[in-house]
Amino acid sequence: MTDTQRSWEKRLSSKPDELTVDYVESLSYDNRLYKYDIIGSIAHAAMLAAQGFITQAEFTAIEEGLASIRDDIETGRLEFDKAAEDIHMAVEAALIKRIGEPGEKLHTARSRNDQVATDVRLWMRDEIGILHAAIAHLQKSLTSLAAGHVNDLMPAYTHMQRAQPIVVGAYLLSFVQQFERDAIRLGNCRDLLNVSPLGAGAIAGSTLGIDRKATARKLGFKDIVCNSIDAVSDRDFCAEFIFDCALIAAHLSRMAEDWIIFSSSEFGFIRIDDAFCTSSSMMPQKRNPDVLELMRGKTGTVYGALMAMLTILKAQPSGYNRDLQEDKIHVFSAADSIAKSLEIAAAVVAHTTFRTKEITAGLDVGFLDATALAEYLVRKGVPFRKAHGIVGALVARCEKEGKSLKELSVQEFKERSPAIGEDVYEYLGAGNVVKRYVSAGAAGPEQVRQQLAFWEKHLVGR
Ligand code: ARG
Repeated sequence: MTDTQRSWEKRLSSKPDELTVDYVESLSYDNRLYKYDIIGSIAHAAMLAAQGFITQAEFTAIEEGLASIRDDIETGRLEFDKAAEDIHMAVEAALIKRIGEPGEKLHTARSRNDQVATDVRLWMRDEIGILHAAIAHLQKSLTSLAAGHVNDLMPAYTHMQRAQPIVVGAYLLSFVQQFERDAIRLGNCRDLLNVSPLGAGAIAGSTLGIDRKATARKLGFKDIVCNSIDAVSDRDFCAEFIFDCALIAAHLSRMAEDWIIFSSSEFGFIRIDDAFCTSSSMMPQKRNPDVLELMRGKTGTVYGALMAMLTILKAQPSGYNRDLQEDKIHVFSAADSIAKSLEIAAAVVAHTTFRTKEITAGLDVGFLDATALAEYLVRKGVPFRKAHGIVGALVARCEKEGKSLKELSVQEFKERSPAIGEDVYEYLGAGNVVKRYVSAGAAGPEQVRQQLAFWEKHLVGR
């Protein structure tokens, strides 16, 4: 490490201890920001040239130098020394080594404080695009599975107890809807973070006449962060981004939990392809849903990242503090966990079969048609609360006699309510119930067809 590489060392009476070097470095994880650091620097240098702080020739040298550094990083020809501390110092040191004095002018009216804030925002903007694509991929996977199950029945559960009959497609599209909100949330996060901190310097801006709007425009930001103190200390967008990831993790974990249960021998609702299962090192018969369990488990990792980020922000004095360097560990961890989980979730969905025959065969258990019977009585003029009581008593009787509702005779029905007639059988049984759902967004085939038409259009080109 030469003096030019770490100019601040001149201020200190001794070289940093090895422990210090090791403790303060972030290069081992922020090196993935290199691309953004380089485009940020090129934009900054172009502005310095336009404002007359460097010559056009110096700008060209900086731009070409940075481009060659980018190429060398990408082809593995350039490896950084962790003594460079972070990606910003590492790129700058490499530039000075390559082009000399013009490189020493790059950091004019700039600090690592505004630089890192800029780099992370640029990275996150792109990362949200990647997550958007991954969400859309999963949504498409779910939608096409749903399209194959518009009429197939399954029980819906509340309190994990059999509730009402639904079609499988409705169940699957409920996840598409959740992930849509996740995509919107990430888009909102991107809109809010898309402002430029560059040129805020260390905390107070600069006495040099730089043009922050020009760098913002060049980097595709919609505006500048207008207060320099806020510009270097704000990491709200990091907390918000991780929260959005945390909610995606929650949604994935709920789906994973369902499918782990559905794939058990006790349920036997679905079969996940062998390619997405693992076995046991001891029990030869096992087909385990480890992928889904890890998806559920990663929720802990992402929630942990959220708590870490919020805690890093808590009670920090205003302005930049080195605490903020830790932001990237958690932002990257959350993004990486979610990207991987979304990708494999889409693959699992595409390789899962709903065992519709077996599910249908078990639908007479659990009085799934009880609510529809109460609604039948409402049609006959019975107030809902009374109907609810009548059906409750009928269910209790059936349970005692080991029957389903449709196995009662008209006589037996009439003993409880004279309003019940011969036509009652057209309202009983899961198949009849599901066909009769008419309310908007209900879990029947008609509504699923409408939702499918919406999603098939909405997800095109995403
Ligand atoms: N690597 C640092 C970070 O991630 C860069 C900022 C360092 N600034 C400073 N004044 N020491 O936050």
